[in-house]
Amino acid sequence: MDFKRLSFPEAPVIKIQPPGPRSKEHLDFQSAHEGSAVSYPRGMPMALSRAQGATVEDMDGNVYIDFFGGAGVMNVGHSNPLVLENVSEQLSRLTHSLDIPSEPRKALIETLLSFLPDPLQRIFFGGPTGSDAVEAAMKLAKYNTRRQTMISFEGAYHGMSSGALSLSSGLSFKEDFLPLIPEVHFVPYAYCYRCAFGKESDTCDMDCAKYVEHVLEDPHSGVGKPAALIVEAIQGEGGSIVPPESFLTEIREICDKYQIIMIVDEIQAGLCRTGKMFAFEHSGIEPDIVTLSKGLGGLGFPISCIVYKEELDKWPPGKHIGTFRGNVIAYAAGAAALRFMSENNLADHSSNLGEKMLSWLKDIEKDSRIVGEARGRGLMLGIELVKDKASKEPSPDLAQKVRTICHQHGLLVEIGGHYSNVVRFLPPLVLTEELAKKGIEIFADSIREVEKTL
Ligand SMILES: Cc1ncc(COP(=O)(O)O)c(C=O)c1O
Repeated sequence: MDFKRLSFPEAPVIKIQPPGPRSKEHLDFQSAHEGSAVSYPRGMPMALSRAQGATVEDMDGNVYIDFFGGAGVMNVGHSNPLVLENVSEQLSRLTHSLDIPSEPRKALIETLLSFLPDPLQRIFFGGPTGSDAVEAAMKLAKYNTRRQTMISFEGAYHGMSSGALSLSSGLSFKEDFLPLIPEVHFVPYAYCYRCAFGKESDTCDMDCAKYVEHVLEDPHSGVGKPAALIVEAIQGEGGSIVPPESFLTEIREICDKYQIIMIVDEIQAGLCRTGKMFAFEHSGIEPDIVTLSKGLGGLGFPISCIVYKEELDKWPPGKHIGTFRGNVIAYAAGAAALRFMSENNLADHSSNLGEKMLSWLKDIEKDSRIVGEARGRGLMLGIELVKDKASKEPSPDLAQKVRTICHQHGLLVEIGGHYSNVVRFLPPLVLTEELAKKGIEIFADSIREVEKTL
């Protein structure tokens, strides 16, 4: 399919500086009535009216190139026609069935499992958010091992419910709610730009992976034998951090050696985003449990699941439940989205376009004083902003300014990173090269504009 026809052809169009009057009316209404924890409209002040492919229109007629993608949900693009067709057929038939079987449920399961390696053939739908898949994965691991300790990584983000938040490292999210689940230990991720062990690429001996083994082996590490280790194959909210491929291979070997369940969280990096159906495929490993959500609901219909090895399937009926465990519309949407991904080679498109975009970003990095590192894989890209390249001092302020300028010029971007200083691109994977180029030009202009003020 020619992806060009999926997006608004005129993007970007800025008719009035956002937020325009109609957006402002909605933002004022939101401030007056919604809780102060609302966050995204603070960085991207607008109200939305419609969206197509990799483009979004606000209520004042401004059309944006979408490098935000609903925080990595819109893999097949907004209003994807194949998904819409499947969903509208389903809407008048059946919409809610808890975990009672239905045709769309079977279709999604069959399609999803066909993309997973042999041992990962058992699926379980929990509540509708990614966080709930993480909760389910942790429970399944604890149930199987009868252990309580968990290992997670610095820079990890696994969600906001108590268990998932316990496994997430960002202190600003959790410091007001401690204690959460005890016995979660964090170890350094392969964040090579800021290596916890002070190594460079030529001196790296994958010390971060080896440190996990040290923690498990040393009786005085203070870490009891874990039920599971949870890891993102490519860290998302942590700042689009791509580890060397051997990182996950070594972690897999360590988990095998110490009989620890390996959970790979693919909620953000999965479903073609990084150039493979699942990001763990880049390193050739097989996880024991995989968590999925975000793009699984096709167009943002809420759904999450875990997929795991048969031998772990020991928990009894009702051990993890929820009224919305499964959503028939999301099944229909997800099955269609997976079909669209495979029929249109979306993983390859993501890989090829991502490579081009990264090379353009690397050019910007070379010319810029504030771009510390441009990195990523497929269409999961990040640009780490610093006060200066020598000190690498993180600059969250610059990231905010860049996002604001991008927004004003018709480009939506995300922000993440350990220090909230990484501008992140998570566009719908149906992004065309033409839109990608325009988006990167807006981004490059915003970097130049910010640099002028320094
Ligand atoms: C890797 C990862 N895991 C879990 C979650 C939590 O998903 P949700 O926000 O749907 O609960 C996220 C959300 O960004 C994520 O990126």
